Amino acid sequence: MRTHWREVALLATLAGVLGCAPTTDPPSLADHRLDDPPPALSHRPGAAGIGDPDFPTDGNGGYDVSHYGLVVDYVPATKQLKGVTTIKAAATQGLSRFNLDLAGLKVSGVRVDGAAAEFSRNGDELTVTPAEPIDVRSRFTVKVTYAGVPQAEKDSANLGTYGFVPTPDGAFVASEPDGSKTWFPNNDHPADKATYDFKITVPAGVTALANGELVGKPTTAGGKTTYHWRERHPMASYLATATMGKFDLREGRTPGGIPETAAVDPRFKSALDKLYTVSGEVTDYWSKVFGPYPFSSTGGIVDDFAAGYALENQTKPLYGGFAPDASIIAHELAHQWFGDSLTIKRWKDLWLNEGFATYAEWLWSEHKGKRTAKAIFDELHAQPATSPIWAYPPGRALPHDLFNMSVYTRGAMTLQALRDAIGDTTFFKLLQDWTAAHRYGHVTTDEFIALAERLSGKDLSKLFDAWLFQPTRPA
Ligand code: TRP
Ligand code: ZN
Repeated sequence: MRTHWREVALLATLAGVLGCAPTTDPPSLADHRLDDPPPALSHRPGAAGIGDPDFPTDGNGGYDVSHYGLVVDYVPATKQLKGVTTIKAAATQGLSRFNLDLAGLKVSGVRVDGAAAEFSRNGDELTVTPAEPIDVRSRFTVKVTYAGVPQAEKDSANLGTYGFVPTPDGAFVASEPDGSKTWFPNNDHPADKATYDFKITVPAGVTALANGELVGKPTTAGGKTTYHWRERHPMASYLATATMGKFDLREGRTPGGIPETAAVDPRFKSALDKLYTVSGEVTDYWSKVFGPYPFSSTGGIVDDFAAGYALENQTKPLYGGFAPDASIIAHELAHQWFGDSLTIKRWKDLWLNEGFATYAEWLWSEHKGKRTAKAIFDELHAQPATSPIWAYPPGRALPHDLFNMSVYTRGAMTLQALRDAIGDTTFFKLLQDWTAAHRYGHVTTDEFIALAERLSGKDLSKLFDAWLFQPTRPA
């Protein structure tokens, strides 16, 4: 229900006249004036950013998205995308207007709860002014119709090209950290997770792959095929994908029984069986080490865009232009727990993703009877104090250099140092308790340290400070 504040303000004024309001104390600054709307129902613009100080305009304030319904029609030959995004959200404040993140593309219409809304564009911000303001805590639906040729983001530091990247036969879609705005309007920050439906229409013969599982069989009409995918677990927008192209598929279940989809661009046909088999084996093994698999399916996609990186897209990691070895598969699938199920609230805590996924590579090596995590740690620890790996403490990822090697390597070393300090039994119990306590939720570094201290009964502040926050090489 959407009660207009003026009606309520009138009631408040009457209450004042009738003597219910205090008359003796002079009003303080904190008191609102009687002719103002009552605070709980006042409406003001939602902030242009969600509150991550390192990325001030990423995400938006004032609402929380619960579901995205994406309808996308893409024509690889012209790179034209036509989209309708339906967003279900709840207002966390009274909203006179609010923002979505969207880069490029032309918006032709916005509706809020079915009524046409005004909108304007400013940089990557799409500002929506609904016909009626939205009350705090009320649920509302936003429908954005848009079209155009998506433009990928390019980062000069260490991200390369990301977002919606056209390929000759479709598109490679990997959006970390803030590239989902290159293909659909959204609250583009991991602090707001939501479930997704994807209805993707492509020329017949092209396969469209997204997160989660297929709903029904793809339907073909008039030379176009529509795929409906659904991710029913909360997902950060940077993990959403609609990767399209010619693909060879292998589908089934892991030995442990988890539904699995592996897909490779025909250029990587010979990599399909290994991708399928190793992804299944890794998913099952991590389910024992890290706790139950958080999602309803697993798998992976190899596309022919030579990104030179992989991304842990929820349920279907994406490998950009190479046949992945077991180590990187182990890394991306470890992210299904660390990053995807447990998601960071602020980018500065990125080591909770990358340090853990890198440590998982070492655990995989150890599991396979190759070098132990400790041996890998020792070799790295022996690097001279002047090595750049010690110059950059990983506990606070820097906005202009998020994916610095230290966040990965020294982040992983932090976990080995912790394992040495608390012992294997407590360490592996900690990993399981950590994933159980925050399943589908959000995490911070402080929460991890607190849990490690509680489970071990040790004061670990010196260890974490030395490994995560001090510039010099820890002893
Ligand atoms: N998170 C990815 C990994 O380590 C790497 C990555 C960083 C990335 N930024 C990206 C991938 C941008 C794709 C797009 O597994
Ligand atoms: Zn990673």
